[in-house]
Amino acid sequence: MLEVRNLAVSYRETEAVRNVSFCLQPGEVTALLGPNGAGKSTLVQGILGLIPIDRGSVKWQHRSLKDQLKKIAYVPQRTQIDWDYPITVQNVVMMGRIRATGWFRSPSRRSREIVNTALQRVEMWEYRQRQIRELSGGQQQRVFLARALAQEADLFFFDEPFAGVDRKTEEILFNVFDELKEKGKTILVISHDLGETLDRYDRLLLLDKELIASGSKQEVITAENLRKVYGRHLQSMA
Ligand SMILES: Nc1ncnc2c1ncn2[C@@H]1O[C@H](COP(=O)(O)OP(=O)(O)OP(=O)(O)O)[C@@H](O)[C@H]1O
Ligand SMILES: [Mg+2]
Repeated sequence: MLEVRNLAVSYRETEAVRNVSFCLQPGEVTALLGPNGAGKSTLVQGILGLIPIDRGSVKWQHRSLKDQLKKIAYVPQRTQIDWDYPITVQNVVMMGRIRATGWFRSPSRRSREIVNTALQRVEMWEYRQRQIRELSGGQQQRVFLARALAQEADLFFFDEPFAGVDRKTEEILFNVFDELKEKGKTILVISHDLGETLDRYDRLLLLDKELIASGSKQEVITAENLRKVYGRHLQSMA
């Protein structure tokens, strides 16, 4: 179990995440929802130790997550990735094996097999020699999904993997999440979709700097919560 307690993160004077506590359970896919600027990316980066936190603790299996980073796979939001970086699809996915292989060693046969399997799983194997910049947005997202799979992590964080992807890529992503969950993995997915995809998650978190609600769709997607977070015009959605 991942246990986040009283986490607070700020950028200079701006408080971005205030006193957030929640747990993520193995074998579950949790959605992190909230409007633009709600602090979703900041919260995930704070959990992963990628940015300094003001307060709070993050524990995985009752030990500090900081000492167990090997267990984590993280796919950042599209805007945080340099898509012009000259690297092939295959090597992006191989980067997921660096922790297992070491920086200056050539990849083992096992790593190569894992990379191939991951590329096939996301239907990107035919593109393995392409430069990452030569792919469509949805294809790039699938390559980063493959990289996360190649890490053989226990905990997965995806920051808006659905932004700008078509139905096929969306389906591949959700099917992979289901497979990971059956293997007992713990998965957090940042999303903006308040529509039908909500049914594909086991649990929802609604963030607006603070954690506004958490639990089932019925508990979280209420008129009152949506009004608090998105304003009056969305009332009719619940
Ligand atoms: N590097 C930064 N320096 C200063 N302020 C930042 C920085 N990154 C984010 N912020 C601010 O922190 C707040 C939370 O931003 P964050 O990117 O975490 O939101 P988000 O929920 O991920 O939004 P989106 O849905 O647009 O991705 C916003 O007010 C944002 O302007
Ligand atoms: Mg974000």
